[in-house]
Amino acid sequence: MRKPIIAGNWKMHKVLSEAKGFIEEVKGLVPSQEKVDAVVCAPALFLESLVQQTQGTDVKIGAQNMHFEDQGAFTGEVSPVALKDLGVSYSIIGHSERRELFAETDESVNKKTLSAFQHGLVPIVCCGETLEQREGGQTNEFVGSQVQKALTGLTEEQVKQTVIAYEPIWAIGTGKTASAQDANEVCAHIRQTVAAQFSENAANAVRIQYGGSVKPSNIKEFLSQPDIDGALVGGASLEASSYLQLLEAVAND
Ligand code: 13P
Repeated sequence: MRKPIIAGNWKMHKVLSEAKGFIEEVKGLVPSQEKVDAVVCAPALFLESLVQQTQGTDVKIGAQNMHFEDQGAFTGEVSPVALKDLGVSYSIIGHSERRELFAETDESVNKKTLSAFQHGLVPIVCCGETLEQREGGQTNEFVGSQVQKALTGLTEEQVKQTVIAYEPIWAIGTGKTASAQDANEVCAHIRQTVAAQFSENAANAVRIQYGGSVKPSNIKEFLSQPDIDGALVGGASLEASSYLQLLEAVAND
């Protein structure tokens, strides 16, 4: 049985006091981590505070990006060593906004995924097609290739711990969602890709999230699908009450 994982991706929202206020509100109320993994991926500036604030709670903190090198002359970048040192647990890698706006490639996504494991961080590896690709019938081929390239060089054990987030680009922040069946079809294809590249065991263990306009009102539909193990949530993770509702919907299922 794969444990569901709900991760909020705050993107470039909030100031520190708001971030701390959010954690204060949710930390005693999140369902037990025996039922669901609750993650908040916050801007890098807040990570130290939020890790400290969530110590001993069932909320884990993630970064939204990291560099693949440990250190060096990379102005403005965040080191995976520094993230681990702070107590950060996860890092989103290769979000479509990073790929589209900051020129991330399949190659850098692969290097970052390998680096995350080297430093004891769990990668949330993102993939997803554009509207043109979907309409052109290229979704499975494109997403499968993104996943295959991202995971190249990992061990089977590492793949089992990886979280993959399938986020169709046209569903992000638009209020449009893939139907639960369509999302599941792509997630099933991702699982088959992992089985072919690694093993059935790895494919059965890897957790695959859906992302793109997930809300408390639609999360159950997605999570009821056999190949969807959680959600990566932008807008609906910004309010404490809505973040809690997402977790409760999953924990009480
Ligand atoms: P929304 O939930 O706001 O559509 O964002 C999805 C996303 O990009 C999460 O990483």
